[in-house]
Amino acid sequence: RQRPVIAIDGPAGAGKSTLAAHLARRFGFLNLETGAMYRALALKAIENDFAFDEEAPLLELANHTRITLEPQLEGNRVLLDGIDVSRRIRDQDVTSAASQISIHHNLRAWMVLQQRALGEQGGVVMEGRDIGTAVFPDAEVKIFLDAAPEVRGNRRYRQTVPTESPTIPQNSDRQIPEPQSAEQQRVAEEAILRDLKERDYRDRHRAESPLQPAPDAVVLDSTTMTLEEVLAQAEQIV
Ligand code: C5P
Repeated sequence: RQRPVIAIDGPAGAGKSTLAAHLARRFGFLNLETGAMYRALALKAIENDFAFDEEAPLLELANHTRITLEPQLEGNRVLLDGIDVSRRIRDQDVTSAASQISIHHNLRAWMVLQQRALGEQGGVVMEGRDIGTAVFPDAEVKIFLDAAPEVRGNRRYRQTVPTESPTIPQNSDRQIPEPQSAEQQRVAEEAILRDLKERDYRDRHRAESPLQPAPDAVVLDSTTMTLEEVLAQAEQIV
C-alpha cells in the first residue's frame, strides 16, 4: 500500500473514536470504526430474534447482510442493508449484543476480511479491539489507548449529561438520558461503569482475538492526561 494504516485499539470509553477522528482530520485519512460493524450486525440479530450465543445462524445472517461505513468528520455514518442505523446502534441493547456476538471465531473472520478490504489501500485510521493484532498486524502505526475503568466510566457518563455536553457525540452510548438528583446521577454513573467493565472483561478474556496491545503497539494511558495531551502525543507517535 502507498499510505500507512494507523491502528487504534483499546477498551471501551478510552477515547479511541475521538482520537481516531482527530488523527484522520489531521493527516487527511479515512476514519473507520470497526465496532460499528459489530454493532450493526448485532442490531440485525436483535431485529430478527437471533440468539447471540449461536454462531452458525449469526454467520448465515452476516452472509446476507451489507454493512457500510461512511467516514464523516466525526465518526462514521453506518448503513445496515442501506438503512442509516448510526444512532440506533449506540443504544444499550445493541451495545451489549455487539459485545456478545463478537466472541465468535468465524464471525470475526467475516468482519476481519471486510475490514482488510476497507483499509488495504492505506490512508486510514482504523479503530477497534484487534486492529493491530489481527486485522492489520503489519500496520505502520499502532496505538493502544487505555485508561482506568473509573475514568472511562466517568467520561462516558459525562457524555450522557445534556448540560455538560449539549451535542452527544455520534458514538457515545446513550444509556441514561437525563439523570436529575445527585443520587440518580450516582446510580446512572455506576450503571455505565458496570456495563463498561462487563464488556471489557468479555473483550479481554475471549478466546478469539482478545483485547490486548500488539507487541509493537505504543500504549497510551490517558488516565491522568487531558484530551489535548493525548492528541498531541498520538500525533508525535504517528
Ligand atoms: O468500539 P465499540 O464499543 O463500538 O465496539 C462494540 C463491541 O464490538 C465491543 O464491545 C467489542 O466486543 C466488539 N468489537 C470487537 N472488535 C473490534 C471492534 C469492536 O470485538 N475490532
